[in-house]
Amino acid sequence: MITKIPTLDCSSAYLAVEQRDTPDSMPPSPNPDASRDFIQIYRSDPQAVHAELHAGLLAEQPAVSPKYLYDALGSKLFEAICELPEYYPTRTEAAIVECHLADIARAAGQGVTLIDLGAGNCAKAARLFPALRPVQYVPVDISVDFLRDAVCRLRQQSPHIRMIGVGMDFSASLELPDAVGQERRLFFYPGSSIGNFPPEQAAALLRRVREACGPDGGLLIGVDLLKDRQTLDAAYDDALGVTASFNLNLLLHLNRLIGADFDLRNWRHRGCFNEAHGRIEMHLEARRETRVSWRGGARRFLAGERIHTESSYKYARHDFLQLLERSGFGRIQTWTDERGWFMVCHARVR
Ligand code: AVJ
Repeated sequence: MITKIPTLDCSSAYLAVEQRDTPDSMPPSPNPDASRDFIQIYRSDPQAVHAELHAGLLAEQPAVSPKYLYDALGSKLFEAICELPEYYPTRTEAAIVECHLADIARAAGQGVTLIDLGAGNCAKAARLFPALRPVQYVPVDISVDFLRDAVCRLRQQSPHIRMIGVGMDFSASLELPDAVGQERRLFFYPGSSIGNFPPEQAAALLRRVREACGPDGGLLIGVDLLKDRQTLDAAYDDALGVTASFNLNLLLHLNRLIGADFDLRNWRHRGCFNEAHGRIEMHLEARRETRVSWRGGARRFLAGERIHTESSYKYARHDFLQLLERSGFGRIQTWTDERGWFMVCHARVR
């Protein structure tokens, strides 16, 4: 079901951040032609969200999908993470893009429909505008209120670019609204967000992107590369504790989503590299034995028991290129930084 919701001006969008819960629990608006510049697509309903979280919390190895890290506050905390001295990915990717912007624009072409997956505050895409001169910009994000606010501000900065914000969970489906241009699509998936998916699921998502590209489309994607453990551990367990707050905030989100009674004082953040799996893992660990209940369920956690909240896969350059090829992409160009920490790739439909 596609529901168009009225555009809010920036100030009311900001209010909405404070009042609303999550995209999942927002009632569809009955006003289809109020606006065509922000479209919310509902793929999951509150019952499905409840069922998913309930099952995850009761599992033998409790786990919650990382997408629940991004309520309005979570999105702001992630923005803060990107500013941390230890969190190198955002900064490194930005430096690569800045240094090779002309090459990237030559590979990707100008006048594209730029579709930004997990756009967040839209800052990364905005930096491409001068070189890419997109005819249309389509930021997509699950954190709907945060995105609406960001698009609203960006529209004032770049009034000459057509923009349609799309609130959807693109990990579930990539069916974009009709208003999104079909020709010369450039999907932009920066920040190594692809790392949130295990390689098989990453390949499946990339195949769906490939299909959504059409025959003349492409993909500009950033991926974090394997490196020494110290650097990786520090990036996901920073001295200031912002990543810890980001992780713990998931419990506040769960409290709202399913009426849980997580007490944050009973939990601590864990984030470190799992070498055997080639991924960072984030967990929330019970500091002491604690009982948690939520609508329709409850569980006792022993001291030291963990809820797995995120995996962030790191790739060897060659393995990631193979993944792109297996997903139907070819003619790949890559750019990296001096230290070989991060890679930006442009790939075309094969
Ligand atoms: C947005 C998924 C790319 O894995 O580095 C940052 C999220 N988690 N710090 C990442 C994140 C903890 C981030 N991604």
